[in-house]
Parts: sequence; C-alpha cells; structure tokens
Amino acid sequence: MSTPNRKVLDVLNGKTVTPPPIWLMRQAGRYLPEYRETRKKAGSFLDLCYSPEYATEVTLQPIRRYGFDAAILFSDILVIPDALHRNVTFTEGHGPQMDPIDTDGILALSQEGVLDHLKPVMETVSRLRGALPSETTLLGFCGAPWTVATYMIAGHGTPDQAPARLFAYRHPEVFARLLDFLADVSADYLVEQIDAGADAVQIFDSWAGVLGETEFEAFAVRPVRRIIDSVKSRRPQAKVIAFAKGAGILLKNYRQDTNADAIGLDWSVPLSLAVELQKDGPVQGNLDPMRVVAGGPALKDGIDAILQALGHGPLIFNLGHGITPQADPEHVTELVAQVRSFG
Ligand code: CP3
Repeated sequence: MSTPNRKVLDVLNGKTVTPPPIWLMRQAGRYLPEYRETRKKAGSFLDLCYSPEYATEVTLQPIRRYGFDAAILFSDILVIPDALHRNVTFTEGHGPQMDPIDTDGILALSQEGVLDHLKPVMETVSRLRGALPSETTLLGFCGAPWTVATYMIAGHGTPDQAPARLFAYRHPEVFARLLDFLADVSADYLVEQIDAGADAVQIFDSWAGVLGETEFEAFAVRPVRRIIDSVKSRRPQAKVIAFAKGAGILLKNYRQDTNADAIGLDWSVPLSLAVELQKDGPVQGNLDPMRVVAGGPALKDGIDAILQALGHGPLIFNLGHGITPQADPEHVTELVAQVRSFG
C-alpha cells in the first residue's frame, strides 16, 4: 500500500510542513447551516452521534466546504458515560446532563457491553475512511478520564468542576479507581477506532486547567499516560494528540510525561512558551475562537502571530478550543486561506 500524503501525520512524526496543516476543533457544528439541517433530521444529539449515516455526513461537511487537512469523527466524549448507562441527555440551552455517580456507582461500573454500545461509532469511522480523500487525515478521539469524570460526578457541566474536585479529595481511592476504569475503557475504544480506520486520535482534557499541580499529575497526566501506553502497546504505530486545556506552565513536561506525539495548546499559552514546547515536539493550536467570531484585524493578526512564532517548526494549525456557533463561516474561509498562503 502506498503511503498517502497526510500532512497531519507528517507533523505528528515530527516533520515541519509548510504551510502547516489545519483543522479546527468542533469544525462540524452549529456555525454551519448544513450541520443545522442534518441535526434537525437526525433527532436528538445522541441520535446524531449514533447514526453512521448522519454522523458521516456532518463529519464530511466541513471537509467539503474548506478542504481541511484532517476530519474529526463526529461524536462526543460523553458517549462513554452513555455506554455506561449514566442516562446521558443533551438539551438545547442546558448542555449535557446525566445521573450523578456516587462511590457505590463507581464501584459497580462494568466494562461489559460498552464497546457493543459504541459499534455505530466504529461503523461511522470505517465509512469515513472510505469516503474521505486519501490526503485527509481521519482523527478519532475520546475525553480524558478527568474531564469525563467531572461530568459523571456533577451530572452536568459546571464553571469550575468543584463537585469533582471535592469528590476527589473526599474519596481519593474510589476516585483513582474511576480514573483507571475510564482510562481502560477509553484505551479499548481508541484501539477500536484505529482498527476501524482512524489515522490518529486526540484525547480532550478540556478541564485540566482547574487542577492544582499535584492533582494535575495524578488526575490529568497519569490517566492519559495509562491510555496512551495501553494504545501504543497494542498498536505501536498509533499517533496521539493530547490536549490539556488551561494547563499553562504545567504543559512543560506534558508531552514526555504522557508519551503523546503532539500536544494541543489553548490561546492562554503564551507564544514564547509555545516556542519552547515546540522544541520538544509538535504542537497544535492555538487561535482564540473569539478571533474567528470577530473577523477583520483580530482574526488576521492572531493568525499571523501564530504563524510567525510556530510556523517554522512542527505545527498543526488549530483553534485553542472549539469553534463557537456564532462564528461566521466566511471568516473560516479567510482563516484557511491565510494559513495556506504562509511560507
Ligand atoms: O470537533 C468536532 O467537530 C467533533 C465533534 C465533537 C463534539 N464534541 C460535538 C458536539 C467533539 C470532539 C466533542 C468533544 C467534547 N464534548 C468535549 C471536549 C472538547 C471541548 O469542547 O471542550 C466536551 C467537554 C464535550 C461535552 C459537550 N458536548 C458539551 C459540554 C456540550 C454542550 C456545549 C455545546 O456546545 O452545546 C456538548 C454538545 C456538542 N458536542 C455539540 C457538538 C457539535 C453541540 C450540540 C448540538 O449540536 O446540538
């Protein structure tokens, strides 16, 4: 088999690609009218995640429109708690909700049936690999154990994940068990995505930024390392991007400590630190999604600054977090054009 020209994979292998490849977190989403159309047809948000037909369609929409270098599987990190019978729902305006878990619930968790429940997602991955242009990298993903645990414990999103932080201090052993359990389920899930056709995977630790130093090590680094070691021991070629949002200076050893191939950076990471981190390995990021909403000089100058600082090393251009529903699709066209004209 000839090796397809997948620029994102080249960067994950440590190469500098000019101009850098680009994709955007949440690139399939409500800012696109075609997404909103499909979303209406699919039923609930989870119905969309579990429909290979519709999930494939919405994954492909931003690729058709913008020709991004990577497609990210359309799903959600909370399909894991859903597969664990936590009664997950997404209601407009309220975000995700589920039954909050307690110590007994954690001790009763079982892996049985989880991967069966997620079979439709694997079907989506394999359809996507068939439908995508060969040069487009297909990314799978999962949530990091800490971030998934924060929703499982609170039962919904919170501004600072205080319920999970409190639970972790009160019940350290049971909490450690929850993280290990989620890491093992997530590793199996990622291996299945890779076997179904994902070229690389990203682990989203969106709530890493609320953790103190000791907790970052125990709740963010260690469980992500457990996932990556497990995946790589079974699929040595697997490439992994680890994204610990808000972790700031704690990112210094994050790539080595988790054994990730690349790290994602949010916009609060100073470019001077990003340059240091890039000396150690590939980085992905880190434009503020609000610059895409604003457009004009805010957009142009933000892109320029990243390209000037990081464009001469291994970089996957991305936002520092997901694109928001109010972003103008025209601004994304401008963003892609400007990144592609670099160098
Ligand atoms: O990036 C992509 O295009 C792939 C799809 C994807 C979604 N969620 C679709 C989605 C991915 C990779 C995710 C990850 C995810 N989900 C994370 C980690 C990344 C991040 O954004 O921090 C988290 C924390 C979740 C949990 C989640 N899902 C929340 C808190 C919400 C509600 C907030 C919101 O934007 O509405 C969701 C819903 C969700 N996941 C939507 C989409 C497109 C919007 C729901 C809809 O379309 O009705």
